[in-house]
Amino acid sequence: MNAIAVSFENVFEKQPSVVGFAPGRVNLIGEHTDYNGGHVFPCAIQMGIACAAARRADGKLRFVSENFCSTGVVEYSLADLSLQDVWADYPASVIRAFAACGHPLECGADFYFSGDLPDGAGLSSSAALEVVTGTVLKELFSIPVMKQEIAMIGQLAENRFIGVNCGIMDQFASAMGKQGSAILLNAGTLAYAYAPLGDSALVIVNSMVKHSLAASAYNDRRRECEAACSNLGVSALCALTVDEFERRKHLISDPVCRKRAKHAVYENQRTLDGAAALQRGDLTAFGALMNASHASLRDDYEVSCAELDFLAETAQRIEGVYGSRMTGGGFGGCTVSLMERAAVEGFVSAIQTAYCERFGVTPEVYPITAADGAKGERVL
Ligand code: GLA
Repeated sequence: MNAIAVSFENVFEKQPSVVGFAPGRVNLIGEHTDYNGGHVFPCAIQMGIACAAARRADGKLRFVSENFCSTGVVEYSLADLSLQDVWADYPASVIRAFAACGHPLECGADFYFSGDLPDGAGLSSSAALEVVTGTVLKELFSIPVMKQEIAMIGQLAENRFIGVNCGIMDQFASAMGKQGSAILLNAGTLAYAYAPLGDSALVIVNSMVKHSLAASAYNDRRRECEAACSNLGVSALCALTVDEFERRKHLISDPVCRKRAKHAVYENQRTLDGAAALQRGDLTAFGALMNASHASLRDDYEVSCAELDFLAETAQRIEGVYGSRMTGGGFGGCTVSLMERAAVEGFVSAIQTAYCERFGVTPEVYPITAADGAKGERVL
């Protein structure tokens, strides 16, 4: 937290009064189920975004990010937080969302951000940016909001102001993560339970393909799921069990929407089965469910790509790996693989060599542990 305070002071020539940190996340299973009222199983990771902030006497909001140096200072005013088509639209939209939820800021503020999450890699750099902003605002303006509400305000900012219709998973994991555990979250009711990950290793592999087209494709998938819901006469796809879906799937007129719905319903069941397998220590069963999740995202939900397929399929064949799948929204980004601890070293060199031979790019590899969620504190 100290480094971020020093950076803030160098830029704004005063000390910050609050510092905070929010992690990214990796989802172990339960992909594209959150906005279908289903279950997800993410954990927060060590990588994330730090922020330092101080109030201003006027109504200006100024944002600087070490990760977008060339953009310099981005300035808004409390009276006009409309989009400027830059990274700072995310924190600015969180401020708008706080106001929309009954927490308007009484004055402006300066913010400095710095993060180590790769951008556009499906590890929720946007959610971490939203959640760290909310966490810092809470301290800076003594706003009475719980961590869970900060997650929901972050999602609101993204849905209403940024224009991406994301679910709650990413912000929830960033705000509510717990060291050593994944979170089994019912995204329909927000009921959740922590699930210890036990003695295994998680390794993220970055395909280095940025998911730049993901926002529009993501909103398309949501529309397809909504069409399937209206054919089936249900408010959310994951309200159906696998059996109920099989009996009623003929009601979905469009074959593409039928495939999307199949993924959501079966993936929700896989997530519940996965959490149960983990609880009884059956990592082999958990891994098989991860592999099945990848196949469904590739074939039925159609959000994978050649690079992610190659990474998942290569990983699945490496000794000591329980399972591997794409993680996050898709169309690029990362895979996550669950393996024996002793297998990590061999895995890293095997996957890097294979990917480099096939695509001519060395993928970044991040061995991770499940981490705590967002934190903020007053420093002045
Ligand atoms: C993105 C969204 C999440 C979730 C995943 C897919 O990360 O932000 O809400 O829908 O895609 O599981």
